Amino acid sequence: MNKQELWDKFGKTFRDYDLESGAYKAPGRVNLIGEHTDYNDGFVMPMAIEKEITMLAQLRPDKKIKFYSLDYDQLVEYDLENLEYDEENVWANYLMGVIDEIQKLGESLQGFNLMFTGNVPQGSGLSSSAALEVVTALAVTDLHKIKIDGVEMALLAQRAENNFVGVQCGIMDQYISRLGKKDHALLIDCRTNDYELVPFKNENYQIVICNSKVERGLVDSEYNQRRSECNQAVEFFAEKEDGNITALRDVELETVIKYKNQLAENVYKRAHHVVSENERVLASKKALEADDMQKFGDLMYASHKSLSEDYEVSCKELDILVNLAAEEGVEGARMTGAGFGGCTVNLVKKAKVDDFVKNIKEKYKAETGIEAEVYVSNPGDGARKL
Ligand code: GLA
Repeated sequence: MNKQELWDKFGKTFRDYDLESGAYKAPGRVNLIGEHTDYNDGFVMPMAIEKEITMLAQLRPDKKIKFYSLDYDQLVEYDLENLEYDEENVWANYLMGVIDEIQKLGESLQGFNLMFTGNVPQGSGLSSSAALEVVTALAVTDLHKIKIDGVEMALLAQRAENNFVGVQCGIMDQYISRLGKKDHALLIDCRTNDYELVPFKNENYQIVICNSKVERGLVDSEYNQRRSECNQAVEFFAEKEDGNITALRDVELETVIKYKNQLAENVYKRAHHVVSENERVLASKKALEADDMQKFGDLMYASHKSLSEDYEVSCKELDILVNLAAEEGVEGARMTGAGFGGCTVNLVKKAKVDDFVKNIKEKYKAETGIEAEVYVSNPGDGARKL
């Protein structure tokens, strides 16, 4: 639907109150490198993708809030003064969580109607939930003329997911959905929440995303388990080495290796992944700046190996996709996002993209019986008002 058709639909769904209204967009993301480092105060390097959620919004003269999901064709209504988790319409909690966090800032909101639709694949590790949170935050603050900067908005959306939805995610997904830039990846320092733009407009290479179509089953419980193993490692290093160590960000790879025999095997492997992954992110930034795509690709493969063997968050299908990419001779490939299913991200020579897409789909189908989906995306812009 184009913008006019969307507004027509909005007009048919809700009464027009002749109050402040607007249309907004927020994208999904793919993480190029830096996995499971954000909640360890580390570095990540995601880009926004050209798949987005579009939201139309208008104030109401009362205290009601109504959400219409075009894609589910579901209309729900809540009371601003009494926001509670909705077991039935799970999608609505992402919006309510954001609204709840805005109210927690001490802002008094009036009622409003929201309608949204999107093409970010769900449950695929491309952060459709972060896109929904961010677009809601942008719409609701803009309607009410609440001033909040990009990083603050990302943090607010993250708190919505942590507190209302109940997923202990880090900051990466909401951050890149809010602050992504066309033709750039962002190197985000998840300790200071600063970022640097890393140009990614290589004439010769293309980012290609392969969706394994495996739903990320175990992801929440395993995610929390990894977080707690990282905390165990931090406590250990703080005691043995330096009381100032507060996150794996503060630990050198040498130190991790030095204590290999004193750490439980799983804790050692988790720490080894996080600390080496931080190094790979910084090396990737340098490689991209030097236009050394070969080097960047090697770092992507190394990241996957570490995620699969040390962090143990890959799965059979993701490993197959990465191996097939290597067989096809692409520069780099790795799983992206939390893991246990979802997508791989691939760095492919432009001239080879068509062959790659065709071959990897065929071979993946032959090995797993599953039809993969493939998306070719350039780095897109973050959230914005239309
Ligand atoms: C999920 C979380 C992010 C990040 C990644 C793993 O996408 O939402 O905060 O931790 O997993 O890198």
